[in-house]
Amino acid sequence: MRALTWQGTNNVRVDTVADPEILNSRDAILRVTSTAICGSDLHLYDGVIPTLMPGDVLGHEFMGVVEEVGPKSTLKKGQRVVVPFTIACGSCYFCLKQQYAACDNSNPVKNQEISEKLYGHAMSGLFGYSHMTGGYPGGQAEYVRVPFSDVGPIVIPDGLEDDKVLFLSDILPTGWMAAENAAIEPGDIVAVFGCGPVGLFCIESAIVMGAETVIAIDHHQHRLELARNLGAKVIDFTETVVGDALMEMTGGIGPDAVIDAVGMEAHGFAPDIVLEIVKQKIGPGADRGHALREAISAVRKGGRVSIPGVYGGYLDKFPLGAMMEKGLEIRTGQTHVQRYSQMLLDKIGKGELDTTFLISHHLPLEQAADGYKNFHDNQNEWTKVVLKP
Ligand SMILES: NC(=O)c1ccc[n+]([C@@H]2O[C@H](COP(=O)([O-])OP(=O)(O)OC[C@H]3O[C@@H](n4cnc5c(N)ncnc54)[C@H](O)[C@@H]3O)[C@@H](O)[C@H]2O)c1
Ligand SMILES: [Zn+2]
Ligand SMILES: [Zn+2]
Repeated sequence: MRALTWQGTNNVRVDTVADPEILNSRDAILRVTSTAICGSDLHLYDGVIPTLMPGDVLGHEFMGVVEEVGPKSTLKKGQRVVVPFTIACGSCYFCLKQQYAACDNSNPVKNQEISEKLYGHAMSGLFGYSHMTGGYPGGQAEYVRVPFSDVGPIVIPDGLEDDKVLFLSDILPTGWMAAENAAIEPGDIVAVFGCGPVGLFCIESAIVMGAETVIAIDHHQHRLELARNLGAKVIDFTETVVGDALMEMTGGIGPDAVIDAVGMEAHGFAPDIVLEIVKQKIGPGADRGHALREAISAVRKGGRVSIPGVYGGYLDKFPLGAMMEKGLEIRTGQTHVQRYSQMLLDKIGKGELDTTFLISHHLPLEQAADGYKNFHDNQNEWTKVVLKP
């Protein structure tokens, strides 16, 4: 089959690779109908997440039609499903707490040591996201093997086309969980750093949850425009000092909650960014924490900090003093997608949430490398790429 493979830093290509096969009784094989490129894939593209190998198939946002099932799968051939990017067994200590992204059974033992050494505990399995998270071939491919297919995939009712539901795989629940982690109360002012797909869904979710004002921060005019269309006030970080602007817009108090939807590759020319770009080039394990530092400094005393943005290593100059002295709460994590699938599908079905406004480009899978390059280099116009195998 054809699939998008990682070959090295900023080097991906569509190749012919082995077809997936049923390996375990709970597996299913999907024929992928739509798959998206994520900001998290850009961290792989840029080589800042360790343990990828040339030839690895990427992609963790995908949906498709069930082609084949193992004897213990609950899916049926021909069903249309969206698959969470987090692979979870459904019955371990963590899954029973609905902390699916912490599943203890989805990362094969041989891969666990890597994240155990880095983080103290093994990560769960993720599709197409390095060997640290299981080395699973991803879904930017014609076919994909889905482990624990009786737990993760959600069956899509007829009449809801792919573009309306594809983002249930990751970024919509990620935006939702990030807003939930910000513990928004009616009347709150929430600042969202980053107006990529995740940031935009954070904005949408925060408004649904009752935030009175959402202030969105980025430097891409079109992305800021999308944020404005959702009802946010905006700050272009190249035109103003973000902390000063946030103080001014909140009557000198600071936002009640801040959401870092930027992650480990902050843009800009601030001295900490330039220094950390150099560190990232020298070796993995270095994060670029500019947006997070700015968010923690801006949030009001006693406020909340939610971090959906991905970080992978050790961040220098973390403002622990501000966290402690201002009495902040911090919540973060890979999204527990399975926890939100049905509720968000219902909201999409009822027309309460629309996710299609985000898609700027549909490309055939064969042009996936172009998709990566543009989503990386031309972020203003390329807001979300959907690949069609
Ligand atoms: N927690 C999860 O489960 C999860 C899931 C999906 C994505 N993510 C992460 O969320 C983050 C965002 O994903 P995305 O798909 O929206 O990525 P993206 O790269 O498309 O968007 C990031 C946005 O942040 C903006 N930005 C960069 N530096 C900034 C700064 N200093 N201040 C304000 N804005 C700045 C960029 O201009 C860009 O628009 C990534 O780190 C991604 O890995 C996490
Ligand atoms: Zn993603
Ligand atoms: Zn589990």
